[in-house]
Amino acid sequence: MPNPQYPNIKPHLTTRSLHPESQETPIQFIETDIIYNHLFYRQNHFSYPSLSYSNYWLPINGFVITQKLLSMQDLLQLPSKTVKVILECAGNKRSFFNPKVFGEQWEKGAISQGVWKGVPLRTLLDLAGIREGAKEVIVEGYDYGKRTDLDSIYSFARSLPMEKALHPDTIIAYEYNNQPIPFKHGYPLRLIVPQWYGMASVKWIKQITITDSNFKGPFQSIDYVYYPHKENNKDTKPVTNINVNSTIQKPLDMDVLNTGKHLIKGIAWTGKGSITKVEVSTDNGKTWLNAKIENENSSGYEWVSWSYEWSIVEKGEYTILSRATDSTNRIQPTSPFWNKKGYGYNAIDKIKVKIE
Ligand code: MTE
Repeated sequence: MPNPQYPNIKPHLTTRSLHPESQETPIQFIETDIIYNHLFYRQNHFSYPSLSYSNYWLPINGFVITQKLLSMQDLLQLPSKTVKVILECAGNKRSFFNPKVFGEQWEKGAISQGVWKGVPLRTLLDLAGIREGAKEVIVEGYDYGKRTDLDSIYSFARSLPMEKALHPDTIIAYEYNNQPIPFKHGYPLRLIVPQWYGMASVKWIKQITITDSNFKGPFQSIDYVYYPHKENNKDTKPVTNINVNSTIQKPLDMDVLNTGKHLIKGIAWTGKGSITKVEVSTDNGKTWLNAKIENENSSGYEWVSWSYEWSIVEKGEYTILSRATDSTNRIQPTSPFWNKKGYGYNAIDKIKVKIE
């Protein structure tokens, strides 16, 4: 947060790639539970698309009873739903895998959250009429380009199983924090899929297609798949729900502090159930104590803030850890689940400080 004495000193995004643009939220310096646009992480597979907003129509087609073509006006007139949701890139914390894996070397800031308003996807599918035997809903974005591993041109498109597509909180959003969605985050329409990693929340929606088969686009048949072995592609599984996780915001890693009282604080989140416990260790895991959770009764789609007051009298180097547990009994592991493309890192968070 800016210090009132120095209002012009503010945190900024950290650049991971410019073309396409990938930039990280300065998560250690975030004190609000809603991230303003300029600090929301950005993750793109292609260059930004060009769309004509003046003539924007949303087709709903495929395995439907009647194809639909909806205008923005049509959408704005339908009953809306507002959800406060975390978006976390599946590659968040990828740089901490050991052995290291290829891809954007995200540290801890490929995560943000805020309030999205839109129409439940279900309402739109019901308008078109879902035919018996429908299996998935494909949402395609306007952005497209070449991949490094395939010759053809692809657009960014992903599917959801019917159950997730029909969930009342899966929405086609047109507002972020009470404003039209910023262009870089999907204006005019973006899918929001609570509890799933960010790849599912397709930006700049071009069309919605119901299908009676399993969609095999490369952004779910090649990318966003857990490959547990380096040498082969056996035992794969799709990347879906966010893992239980936590991040220490304060102190900063490798901070030098004085003896006395220090607030250790951070956030914790999950993509199943809600956070029930956050523990902190100041002796590299020998002993653990419960942190205080600030907003325990959140919707379950938001992160919780937690803190622990540390009184330290002895000088020296300390390893501080945080470990979250959720209501489905998932707990952050000591070692992450290593996978070739580096998704879903959720090992116990770790920083070091020196006390002098
Ligand atoms: N949608 C489109 N059309 N194109 C993309 O490249 N990236 C996905 C998802 N939706 C992507 C997309 C990924 S991998 C993530 S993590 C989030 O958007 C990032 O959203 P943000 O840039 O608004 O933070």
